[in-house]
Amino acid sequence: MKREDIDQILAEINNLKCKTQKEVEDARVKFLGKKGEVTRLFEEFRTVAPELKREFGKSLNELKQTVAARIDEMKANVGTDEAASGPKQDLSMPGEPYELGSRHPVSIVRKEIVDIFRKFGYDVAEGPEIEDDYHVFEALNFPPNHPARDMQDTFFVSTGHVNPLLLRTHTSSVQVRAMEKMKLPIRVVCPGRVFRNEAISARAHCIFHQIEGLYIDEDVTFADLKQAILLFAREMFGPETEIRMRPSFFPFTEPSAEVDVSCNICHGKGCNICKGTGWLEILGCGMVDPNVLEASGIDSKKYSGFAFGMGLERIAMLKWRVNDLRHYFENDMRFLREFSTAVEV
Ligand code: PHE
Repeated sequence: MKREDIDQILAEINNLKCKTQKEVEDARVKFLGKKGEVTRLFEEFRTVAPELKREFGKSLNELKQTVAARIDEMKANVGTDEAASGPKQDLSMPGEPYELGSRHPVSIVRKEIVDIFRKFGYDVAEGPEIEDDYHVFEALNFPPNHPARDMQDTFFVSTGHVNPLLLRTHTSSVQVRAMEKMKLPIRVVCPGRVFRNEAISARAHCIFHQIEGLYIDEDVTFADLKQAILLFAREMFGPETEIRMRPSFFPFTEPSAEVDVSCNICHGKGCNICKGTGWLEILGCGMVDPNVLEASGIDSKKYSGFAFGMGLERIAMLKWRVNDLRHYFENDMRFLREFSTAVEV
């Protein structure tokens, strides 16, 4: 064993530059492993002359410490193998694609209708889905035990109270809240989910969506209602659209009407969508009953108004010629994807 052996290892370890953890580990084995160079020198130490043992022993221990410290240092400073030895990032690679969702057809129709009425100067109002009897029925001129309540089979949340809680059967309840709170004149549309205890079929569901509208001011007449509906129908279904009104009944409007639009598929000739009649029913409407105005503290001698309400699924069915309402609630991706390009999001 010679002095130079120690110096050579020292020089080697000081010049060593490892780039990966693997190289650091290889260096550790090379110098400090069982058959490593430093270990070998320790074994050769036995053959050193007794008078030199002291000096060599000290140098050997120092060498071992230096090598170990240098390896520890490199181990701490070199990154993980993946980062250091992996391929360089290629910023021109295409990104990971992820699927964009799209609007639900009912949302598309709701937005379209709300946008039209916004343009006419209407505000949007929303209200609770769990409502009380007062806002869904009583304030809308449905007297207790009046058969009109049977028109809308109701899901009750709590009963046995003068003002039981229930799932609202129409968003007219939001109009009542608007009349209670808003300053006159009032122009609002109320979009929202409604619930009725009906057997589920292609034409009916226990959940659906409505937009109802309310306009109250001085001197509002049936002519204003007719004009508002006509303008809406032409914005929604095309400028050629005609409307027709048929007498109807709702407890909260008098007179009341059901509105049909001319079939924009056959243009009145008669097809299977309009069942050969040339007309499609889209909404119910009427002049707000004075009792309803008074119930919400509005002077019916001074003010009058009109209201209307429509089902969004029905309008969406007409728009896209879907013949089964249940598609709108089943969230079958094959159905929903049909609408992914229907409007810009
Ligand atoms: N609330 C009625 C319904 O749910 C619709 C309607 C609203 C009719 C306003 C007339 C006036 O069927």
